[in-house]
Amino acid sequence: MKSSVSLFSFLAIFIVAASVVSTTGCSYDVEDELFPVEMAPGGCDTTGITYQGSVVPLLDENCNTCHGAGIGLGNVFLEPYAEVIPYVTNGLLICSIQQDGGCSPMPKNGPKLADCEIASIQKWISDGALDN
Ligand code: HEC
Repeated sequence: MKSSVSLFSFLAIFIVAASVVSTTGCSYDVEDELFPVEMAPGGCDTTGITYQGSVVPLLDENCNTCHGAGIGLGNVFLEPYAEVIPYVTNGLLICSIQQDGGCSPMPKNGPKLADCEIASIQKWISDGALDN
């Protein structure tokens, strides 16, 4: 008798514990959806994004051989900052690197930027495209 009672309590505790664990599991899933930009798929960390720290290095490495100051292929200049802003405002900066049609895909004749690099530029824009 005593052992069947303790078996019952063991099962009851197990079921409660299992449902707590599965509920907690669900809340992690929701958290991913609540912060899609801060932490994009693949563990891309876009906290602390700045123009000088993140965007300029990406433009220098991938774009400014063609769009740097004094070069400006296609009459598109992506430095200094004041030259970049019109392409933020008209949407062509994001359109070109996302390569989803509606504008020329960039970098021209080069591999598409990594998802995390695109997410970093998007985050900088959604933060107000500051000269920071
Ligand atoms: C190899 C040279 C080259 C590189 C590298 C390059 N571009 Fe371009 N880009 C061009 C040329 C040439 C044009 C104008 C002709 C065209 O639209 O294809 C252009 C046009 C553009 C335009 C205007 C697009 C439109 O549809 O009007 C944008 C915006 C742009 N580039 C952004 C970028 C960005 C951002 C990068 C880096 C991720 C980049 N480019 C890398 C050569 C390049």
